[in-house]
Amino acid sequence: MSNSVVAVQGEGQYSLLLTLRFFSMKLAILISGTGRTLQNILQRIAEKTLDAEVVLVIASTPNAKGLQYAERANIPIRIIEKSDFPNQEQFSKSIFAACRECQVDYVVMAGYVKLLTIPDDFENRVLNIHPSLVPAFCGKGFYGISVHESVLQYGAKLSGCTVHFVNNHYDQGPVILQRAVPVLETDTPDTLSDRVFDMECIVYPEALQLLAEKRITVEGRRVRIRN
Ligand code: GRF
Repeated sequence: MSNSVVAVQGEGQYSLLLTLRFFSMKLAILISGTGRTLQNILQRIAEKTLDAEVVLVIASTPNAKGLQYAERANIPIRIIEKSDFPNQEQFSKSIFAACRECQVDYVVMAGYVKLLTIPDDFENRVLNIHPSLVPAFCGKGFYGISVHESVLQYGAKLSGCTVHFVNNHYDQGPVILQRAVPVLETDTPDTLSDRVFDMECIVYPEALQLLAEKRITVEGRRVRIRN
């Protein structure tokens, strides 16, 4: 947040206008794949339904198709590959160092498939969306279409998505928002995936907007949302 002072001329004299400018929440978006989630967030920002600014996109591979959305929007890009580091700690340090340099408020995993070690200063400042109702169908190995295949194989009647803060374990951080969708008799993994993703496109920006409005507090595992 910052203020600026502007000199204006009116009725023969100069007066000072104090304009208060509230800068938006700064996001770094982490991607590995198609970047549909990044595209959705950029769209919500453009539509002004999300008060945020994407100041950095970090990809885990130069082949991430989603980089096209960052390029088109002139957002700075960093490619940080795990294979360039001796271990997960060093890899994670490099990612969070880039986020600090850009003074980001929150780090948003958007189809990002690497496990990170979260430093203390980023506790409850890293978010992820998982395409199931956590703690069902989540954890190591549950990503992409395999999540929906597992839901159908199990015979669950409801699935959905979960926005959560990220801790040092797959899909285990405090839950911010969850939304259910029905599993239909006719579903294939692809049709279920599409229905869940449509819901993700609503819920993830909603969670981010709650953060932008500073309406979220975390007490242990409980995420409280103020009205
Ligand atoms: C979605 O399944 C989401 O739940 C998971 O990544 C997928 C989207 O990836 N976190 P992308 O945005 O299409 O790359």
